[in-house]
Amino acid sequence: MTGGVTGLLEAIGSIGRDAGSGGFRRFAWTRDDHDLGEWFAAECTARGLDLTEDRAGNQWAWWGDPDAAPGRAVVTGSHLDSVPDGGAFDGPLGVISALLAVDRLRADGFTPARPIGVVRFVDEEGARFGVACAGSRLITGELTADRALGLTDADGISLGEALRTAGRPVEVGPDPEALRRIGTFVELHVEQGRAMIELGAPVAVGSDIWPHGRWRIDFAGVADHAGTTALTDRSDAMIGFARLVLAARDAAERNGCLTTVGKSRIVPGGVNAIPSAATAWLDARGATEASVRAALADLTAAAAADHGVVTEESWTPVTRFDPELITRLATLLGGDDQPAPVLGTGAGHDAGILARAGIPSVMIFVRNPTGVSHSPAEWAEPDDCDAGVTALAATLADLAGRP
Ligand code: GLV
Ligand code: MN
Ligand code: MN
Repeated sequence: MTGGVTGLLEAIGSIGRDAGSGGFRRFAWTRDDHDLGEWFAAECTARGLDLTEDRAGNQWAWWGDPDAAPGRAVVTGSHLDSVPDGGAFDGPLGVISALLAVDRLRADGFTPARPIGVVRFVDEEGARFGVACAGSRLITGELTADRALGLTDADGISLGEALRTAGRPVEVGPDPEALRRIGTFVELHVEQGRAMIELGAPVAVGSDIWPHGRWRIDFAGVADHAGTTALTDRSDAMIGFARLVLAARDAAERNGCLTTVGKSRIVPGGVNAIPSAATAWLDARGATEASVRAALADLTAAAAADHGVVTEESWTPVTRFDPELITRLATLLGGDDQPAPVLGTGAGHDAGILARAGIPSVMIFVRNPTGVSHSPAEWAEPDDCDAGVTALAATLADLAGRP
């Protein structure tokens, strides 16, 4: 049942692994995603935790009855899906550390005064259907069922069809009952930058998430022969696309934020055919909403010059975690003479969605010595992972130990 963080990472290490890149391709509502859910359920059952599922398919495992006194449970967990060629830690570290923290508390003879929950959120990365944190956004109502079911993947398969194929209910939607159980939410996550390397700290407390969003930009052209169409006769969708990519970079530099075009679709996609359509997906984030919006205005103007159409696919405002929880955890997880470091992040998380739904939430970060994430190079040393489990167990004991 155990083997520490490394053992549990290895237990799922073959699921969704891409032999070429060495990274993971664990996308929502695929066979691999199903296998990850089965693995999670088996680990919870082996621990005698009671499993429930909400109206988005997120899995919750309970130590104690969360309905005996709603609103008091202390819940921890994260996600198991990945970006294309993602690392092993983004998501799984939080789920695995939650299971191991429960083991640790039990080994210590701890008796919770409040129910403890372990959650596995579905579709956090939005790698297949485009909307990140779809599982948590659905239950909070931030993502409507109509919109979610109509989202399509690269093959044109809708989320609704994917759920049906996976044998899942399609009656997804808000689940206030699931949310009402949660008193406090704590998500442990691998750090996705370099701040903790510089601080020399294995564990830190999360303070806030930058405002961030995703946009689709469509350019139209006319398909024609690459060898017979004069440059002056062409309407090439790729030209606007290329200018947009450079405009996005310039806009980020000018406005002090981050922009990324990491996904594209070129139609018809033949080497010898002039593109009739080109779509760019843009991710933009920054310390302030004003910086992101200013960059977006700049690159929208650039796209318009090439008749590009910009469509917002998601927007997440700045999210601040619960100030009392931040202080409490920084003190609890710090040394004798100083609190644990408190850090913000530019990465989105289900903890942010729950925080914005009014649930007191906070995060714990575990140092990543490469500083790299969303890549197979993502890493956390076993000793730091163990420090994360220790920190999470101490947090659960503190939060769930008092009536
Ligand atoms: C989630 O990992 C994100 O893209 O912020
Ligand atoms: Mn991620
Ligand atoms: Mn994550």
